Amino acid sequence: VPTAADISRDVLTNKSAVMFDILRASSTVSTALANGCKEVIPVVEVDDAFALAKTLPENTFLLGGERGAVKVPGFHLGNSPLEYNVGTVGNKTVILTTTNGTQATRRAAEGSGQVFIGSLLNVSAVAKKLMEMEQDIVLVCAGTRGKFSLEDTLAAGMVARELVRLWQLKGQISPALTENLPINGEFYLDETPMVSGNGLVLEDAAVAALRLAEYYENNPLRALYDSLHGQKLAQIGLAADLAYCAQVDLFDVVPVYRDGKIGID
Ligand code: MLT
Repeated sequence: VPTAADISRDVLTNKSAVMFDILRASSTVSTALANGCKEVIPVVEVDDAFALAKTLPENTFLLGGERGAVKVPGFHLGNSPLEYNVGTVGNKTVILTTTNGTQATRRAAEGSGQVFIGSLLNVSAVAKKLMEMEQDIVLVCAGTRGKFSLEDTLAAGMVARELVRLWQLKGQISPALTENLPINGEFYLDETPMVSGNGLVLEDAAVAALRLAEYYENNPLRALYDSLHGQKLAQIGLAADLAYCAQVDLFDVVPVYRDGKIGID
């Protein structure tokens, strides 16, 4: 579970990646696609967005995104998922640029594997998709300007948790995550290797994220308010976005980034 700033080609080689920027880019992308948007094209700079728009036929696209959490002047939409409803984005291409999320998506794609977009809105759908991949998985937390972010780690932890549940159903999981605890001072793991017969194991960062998810499981909104970026959004009048992004499993969609565009398989 690295932040986007820590990822490198080595980390990503032959792995599937999931990018989380739940406040708000990855929630916005999932919402747009669930509401019938044709595709989302993430671009890094505002100028790139305007340049790309010039190449597309009129009325087929919308410019969306933010700087400083505020809509970019001249854009149709900001980065609030609530703006990306069926009537607005249906059958449209969205050109999206955000401060952290769009860059993290492109960085996650530097490896050779598939890149999915995760949020609280699609935890179970993402975990199910990852089960099908039969590949090592990197959960990339976009973070806030390169720093650890609580809300992205929470979402990564929720996906890790659901993966563990699915693995356990198949009888495959590292015993480190079973409920077995040391008995009479004898540590269970002394005799049981961290890696199960099937080789499935979570790195410590993923275990930490999973435990964070357990802490907030009954009130994910609280994590969003505990986070620095969440507080900033609430302060500038965007509390409704926090409430929206805190919903778990609202959609069954798994956005995938391929050839520069995000769509649904
Ligand atoms: C980002 O990509 O940095 C975020 O989505 C910012 C935001 O909350 O709009």
